[in-house]
Parts: sequence; structure tokens; C-alpha cells
Amino acid sequence: MLTFSFLTLFPELLAPFASEAIVGKARARGLVDVNLVQMREFSENRHLKVDDTPYGGGAGMVIRVDVAARALESLAADAGRPPPDEVILFSPAGERFTQAVAEELAGKSHLAFLCGRYEGFDARTEGLVTRELSIGDFVMMGGEAAAACVLEAVARLVPGVLGDEASHQADSFSSGLLDYPEYTRPPEWRGQEVPEVLRGGNHAAVAAWRREQALARTLARRPDLLPSAGLTTQDSAVLLTLGASADDLRAWKAPDPPAPRRPRRTARSGSGEAG
Ligand SMILES: C[S@@+](CC[C@H](N)C(=O)[O-])C[C@H]1O[C@@H](n2cnc3c(N)ncnc32)[C@H](O)[C@@H]1O
Repeated sequence: MLTFSFLTLFPELLAPFASEAIVGKARARGLVDVNLVQMREFSENRHLKVDDTPYGGGAGMVIRVDVAARALESLAADAGRPPPDEVILFSPAGERFTQAVAEELAGKSHLAFLCGRYEGFDARTEGLVTRELSIGDFVMMGGEAAAACVLEAVARLVPGVLGDEASHQADSFSSGLLDYPEYTRPPEWRGQEVPEVLRGGNHAAVAAWRREQALARTLARRPDLLPSAGLTTQDSAVLLTLGASADDLRAWKAPDPPAPRRPRRTARSGSGEAG
């Protein structure tokens, strides 16, 4: 069981992500637990204020560190759940959230997330967390959408949550490459046909075609992924046919492609060819 605790001023924004679709089913099956914590409950202000004006002046409000600390301490004191083994602050200044981070988080037992609003948290809050995460180089109004992204990405990696464990292993980024294209019925739609190889029932040919497509997409769209994609000698051969150069292969730390097969010499070969 992986517990997600979201400390937020707007738990109602996260409630549908926590109760619908696969996460909702995973909660019902006891595979994940989602704990929505209203940070206002930890205000000591009679109007339940959690923020205040910034020292030094300037626009906007800042969430108080003492409120964040009390909310986090309530998790540690919750007898019904293990104490958080990661406390994460959402911030545009954080480490970029990636599939690799999602895989790391899926192995924990209790993840606590601080969702900011306004100008964010008092800087001293950073001393209460184990890491800061950003979901991209843009600024949103609050951390709840970031929290929904992380919940969606991490919960599906918890064993048992997806019906078919293999289904996320070929996903974009999990294999080190972008995913190959998928097709379903109808076999022909507005003149566009599903590739013949996918309809032929030859599993080895399908696997080779999918790997080639994943390499082609990654080469065209995200060549920056190739150095850490764990390329094989066969991948190197495919990448050369897709237009990559020997210098590219070296830059991606790709192994040399298999040596081309020499035609077998016969008694007659070698004679007469030049003339
Ligand atoms: C308006 S933002 C604060 C932006 C902050 N003043 C800055 O420029 O870095 C309010 C909150 O939204 C969340 N947030 C906004 N953009 C984010 C992003 N790209 N990744 C993660 N969280 C984000 C954070 O929790 C942040 O505290």
C-alpha cells in the first residue's frame, strides 16, 4: 500500500483524481491510500488565515512555515498510517519531475506533498522537506495540478494497480525511448491502413517493428533520450538506416552495429568481376 498525503488549501480540486477511475479502484482494493489534508485546519488564526505579507515588501502573500510544519507533524502523529518517508514541496524551482522520479517514488510507503498557492511557502519550509519537485518550466496558480500529475504517474506504477504489469514497461520513458504507435479497429479508416505487420500474427516481426518505430520516433522527436536508452547493436543498425551517422552513435554511447555479413567466397567468385 502506498499512501499519498496532499497538504492543500483546495482539497476539493484533488478529490476527483483521488476517487475516480483507476486510482479510485486502487483505493477500493487497498493498493493506494489518498489522504487530503486541509492546511487551514492547522492555522492558529481565528479567521483560519494561513498566509501573510512578505518581509521586504512586494506583491502577493506567502504561506506561513508554522502552518506547514503543524500540518506535516499531524501526519507523523497519525497512528493509522506510516510516517511519510518522502516530504515533497511543489515549486517551479524544484527538480524536474520525470518518469525516473515517478519510479523512485512508487517504491516508497508514504509520500507527503505540500501544494503551494499565492507566492508559495515561506523559504524556511524547505528545511521541512526531503525534495522539491517542478512539473515543468511554467508557473501555475497552485500545486494541486502538479499533485494530480504526480498521483497519476506514480499510482499506476504500484504493483497490481494496472491490470497488465507489462503495459507500463513499454510506455514512453520507461523503456528509455518514446512509445511505439498503437492501432485498433477499424483496419482501414479514411484511406489510412493499419500496418500489415501488426495484422500478420508474427510476434517476432511485431516486436522488431515496434522497436524500430520507437527508435524512429525518439530520433525524430527526442534524440536527447538516446544516450540513456540502453541501445543494443541491433538498435545501432536500425538507427543508421534511419539516417543517424556513426558520429551520432558514438555521441549516444551506442554499441557498434553488427558487422555486415560477407558473401561466402566460392571457387568462381573473385574471377571475372573486375572485367
Ligand atoms: C503562483 S505559484 C508561486 C510561484 C513562485 N512565486 C515562483 O515564481 O517560483 C504558487 C504555487 O503553485 C505551485 N506551482 C506553480 N507552478 C509549478 C510548477 N511548474 N511545478 C510545481 N508546482 C508549481 C507551487 O506549489 C507554488 O508554490
